[in-house]
Amino acid sequence: MRAVLARESGGPEVLEWTEAEDPRPGPGELLVRVHAAGVNYIDTYRRSGVYPMPFPHVPGVEGSGEVLEVGDGAPFAVGERVAWFSARGSYAELAVVPAAEALRVPAGVDLDTAAALPLQGLTAHYLVRSTFPVEAGTTILLTAGAGGVGQLVIQLAKARGATVITTVGSARKASLARDAGADHVLVTEGMDLPEDLPAAVRALAPRGVDVSFDGVGRDTFDATLACLRPRGMQVLFGGASGQVPPFDLQRLNALGSLYVTRPSLGHYVADRAELDWRADELFGMLRTGALRVRISLREGLAAARSAHEALEGRATTGKVILTA
Ligand SMILES: NC(=O)c1ccc[n+]([C@@H]2O[C@H](COP(=O)([O-])OP(=O)(O)OC[C@H]3O[C@@H](n4cnc5c(N)ncnc54)[C@H](OP(=O)(O)O)[C@@H]3O)[C@@H](O)[C@H]2O)c1
Repeated sequence: MRAVLARESGGPEVLEWTEAEDPRPGPGELLVRVHAAGVNYIDTYRRSGVYPMPFPHVPGVEGSGEVLEVGDGAPFAVGERVAWFSARGSYAELAVVPAAEALRVPAGVDLDTAAALPLQGLTAHYLVRSTFPVEAGTTILLTAGAGGVGQLVIQLAKARGATVITTVGSARKASLARDAGADHVLVTEGMDLPEDLPAAVRALAPRGVDVSFDGVGRDTFDATLACLRPRGMQVLFGGASGQVPPFDLQRLNALGSLYVTRPSLGHYVADRAELDWRADELFGMLRTGALRVRISLREGLAAARSAHEALEGRATTGKVILTA
């Protein structure tokens, strides 16, 4: 098969479109013909060495496609359309997917959308439904509201009746966050974040927000923490700008008995029932039009390098997929 290989840890330039050995499915696994791979931050963290990985490896945990072969005990059939978020090596023409975490793509959902939804959708779902159960009357602060996870968090939080305040990096991204349903959009370009963001948020929510969903990390963490109400929750769910350095827990006391969590998707799809609950709600909302997935960039697999550059360079506004 043809595949993208990350030869060694480094920048996007270590990604190479090349020949690779066909993967073989083991028990409980599916061999799929990849239709499209979803591009995610985790792929860049693994490529750059933030998350340790063996090299060379085929990047990509997410995608959609058609089942070609079924390993022993996997409850799927050849020809079924599936999507996934936890495979090793989706940037390829063929991939092996653990059946325990494969999702059947419902009729009416196209395979581009199916590749775009799982990882960011399940993440947005667990953040809003489980990490901090958002409901009518909740006020949330969100970073990067025009991003992939961001646009989905806005839609899910609005569907629960919350008030959504979000940041975006530049004025041109503001309309996308508004289209997704954000009530208030704060443009961070030119801001002195630790000073200006809390002031802008407290002008809208004087006591502070109930929860802050921060996926930008190093550049925004102090500023978003300072926007919380007493006993509010800081949810650090990523580090698009870099990882947050070690943190003095005494600060939580001084800032109002705050909570901080650093969640990960794997812990929120702990068993098949929890995964199905989240996936069924997301696909259900897609089918009724209550949820929209915006594909920002769609390229062939061979363009993985420029796709990583765009994602890390803040140039994307929604999902990035690579078609096989
Ligand atoms: N914990 C989990 O389970 C989980 C699962 C999936 C994703 N995530 C995390 O969610 C976050 C968002 O992921 P995504 O795929 O949806 O990406 P994304 O939000 O579409 O892209 C990242 C955005 O972060 C903002 N940003 C601010 N400063 C940045 C900087 N210095 N470098 C790069 N970006 C910067 C940019 O938006 P602005 O220009 O508007 O600021 C950029 O577009 C990532 O941190 C990712 O790791 C976590």
